[in-house]
Amino acid sequence: MSSENASFPHPHLLGIEGLKEAEITQILDLADQYVDQNRRTNKKKDLLEGLTQINLFFENSTRTRMSFELAGKRLGADVINMSTSTSSIKKGETLIDTASTLNAMRPDLLVVRHGSSGAVKLLSRKVDCAVINAGDGKHEHPTQALLDALTIRRRKGRLARLSVAICGDVLHSRVARSNIHLLNIMGARVRLIGPPTLIPSGAERLGAEIFYDMEEGLKDCDIVMMLRLQTERMHGGYFPTVSEYFSLYGLDYEKLAAAKEDALIMHPGPMNRGVEIDAAVADDLTRSAIQEQVEMGVAVRMACLDLLTRDKRRES
Ligand code: NCD
Repeated sequence: MSSENASFPHPHLLGIEGLKEAEITQILDLADQYVDQNRRTNKKKDLLEGLTQINLFFENSTRTRMSFELAGKRLGADVINMSTSTSSIKKGETLIDTASTLNAMRPDLLVVRHGSSGAVKLLSRKVDCAVINAGDGKHEHPTQALLDALTIRRRKGRLARLSVAICGDVLHSRVARSNIHLLNIMGARVRLIGPPTLIPSGAERLGAEIFYDMEEGLKDCDIVMMLRLQTERMHGGYFPTVSEYFSLYGLDYEKLAAAKEDALIMHPGPMNRGVEIDAAVADDLTRSAIQEQVEMGVAVRMACLDLLTRDKRRES
């Protein structure tokens, strides 16, 4: 079988942890092809025709949900979005009951976001179809790390040996966790920068160098990845004031000067301008890849939907 049609050896995509370098490369190579498809006038393929994709989001989302919806539609699947604010979840139905109900409708793909770490894995054990984790609590957000990797690889030509600084609220970030795993697997060097209160204890064990000072941490790095202050996950005070946080950890041109001259600026969104990133830096098209990340997101998700349904499509 040519590598172009090769199967993906996992039934679900629950996290980056545990994936192999070749599997990540397989996803990124396929996503590259979908970037080309998405830039054409006719973006649609009938690859997933007849298949049903349900997007089940227990947490708010703009770009991730839209991106998965577009990805499914561009591949020809029937895509349904389930909003938790209008569903029986509001009536007290448990996650497992919801999973069993949806499973009885025979979907082929379930894309799930949930506020609790581990909830998506639990759900995957109760259904018969492929499950993609679209973010579970503080745990993982694998398609975000994959789209970040695709953005970096297309801009820099590789991932190996690049120095990537992940800055800000690492403690509450599933984006950071998935990125740390992916970058380590692909041979990049990871630095985490933030106040001690927002860096998880034992973070070195994840394979990263820790810095509490932005300019020190950004020195000569190739990629500057900013994170949102995730106040919705904070109980208690992690920093004195927003303006103090911005002055110490917000990315502005002054701090950016420590990084390499061609260092790429990234942010998963949604951004809080003037909190973790200066508006002018975020909008600087010569430096920022933030809009490109959104474009890569659709392509990466198309690749994941394609790969996770390959064996099933072959059988039918
Ligand atoms: C991230 C998330 O939901 O974890 N956003 C996203 O998926 N684009 C990051 C965040 O919410 O800050």
